[in-house]
Amino acid sequence: MGHMSAPTLAEALARTAPIRERLSAVIPPMEWPVFAEDVAAILDLKRARNAVILAHNYQTPEIYHGVADVVGDSLALARKAAETDAEVIVLAGVHFMAETAKLLNPDKTVLIPDSSAGCSLASSITAQDVRLLRAAHPGVPVVSYVNTSAAVKAETDVCCTSANARRVVESLGVPKVIMLPDEYLARNVAAETKVEIVAWRGHCEVHERFGAADVRALREAHPGLVVLAHPECPPEVVAEADYTGSTAGMSTYVAREQPGRVVLLTECSMADNVAVENPGVDFIRPCNLCPHMKRISLANIRAALETMREEVTIPADIAARARRAVERMLEVA
Ligand code: 13P
Ligand code: SF4
Repeated sequence: MGHMSAPTLAEALARTAPIRERLSAVIPPMEWPVFAEDVAAILDLKRARNAVILAHNYQTPEIYHGVADVVGDSLALARKAAETDAEVIVLAGVHFMAETAKLLNPDKTVLIPDSSAGCSLASSITAQDVRLLRAAHPGVPVVSYVNTSAAVKAETDVCCTSANARRVVESLGVPKVIMLPDEYLARNVAAETKVEIVAWRGHCEVHERFGAADVRALREAHPGLVVLAHPECPPEVVAEADYTGSTAGMSTYVAREQPGRVVLLTECSMADNVAVENPGVDFIRPCNLCPHMKRISLANIRAALETMREEVTIPADIAARARRAVERMLEVA
């Protein structure tokens, strides 16, 4: 990309002024010069590379609102990854999301700005574990959360996300399923369906830290508080919440209901991103940071587009089987 000169700070500030304005509630305008050059350079690089940036709801606001073409929960990112006609996909999120994008776009270049952006759920289970589970429960289908490696998906009948887990489980029309690796998501789905669920013992390191006592203390401190929880939270937290749903579900809830005061029991950047679009809503913290999501930055997104690295690759035999599980999910919901 030697022919493309990077924008100067003055040019970058002028070009990104509307973004700075839009984000002023969550990024003090004084701090914008730190981001402006990378944002302007990324916008140029996307055009030059015919690339799109898919960003998860947990990405920081300068990524989410500054450079992303598509934002959403893991289901939306999988759907959009299947639809894009760009040649290059940059996945601003964690590794399993980039793998899902690659599964659905085997002929495209899929880049992840930091390939060590993992996930405590994805690393809680291996393909061998799934084979052992199947052996222990002969004939019982395996539903894998998308928060798994491609190797685990390859051992799976159908994938699900937090947005469609119950629909996927019930779509199989069987009395019993294995649902992995998130124990809490499995228990939260089990509470809503007649299907018997065999769970694994994986947990999300962000959501497992919320407790029911935290919710009660928050309600006492903030009368009228509306509590939204992600289904990766422990069931006793979900039981205390006013609404439980995927990251997109929480975002839609706030946009529709416009609660006076709300707490999102999930990753911290969610509230920032949703706050930009809902200036009348008061967002109460706490939140928990996902260290994996936070590995992605404007600087490494820019570097990914400049160097075309790290490219996500999946061995063909694993990819073929894993793709089937993701495609079956997309057919259900
Ligand atoms: P969703 O965006 O699908 O709700 O998932 C949340 C999550 O923790 C992904 O890492
Ligand atoms: Fe994984 Fe939890 Fe981080 Fe999502 S928030 S990427 S589930 S560790």
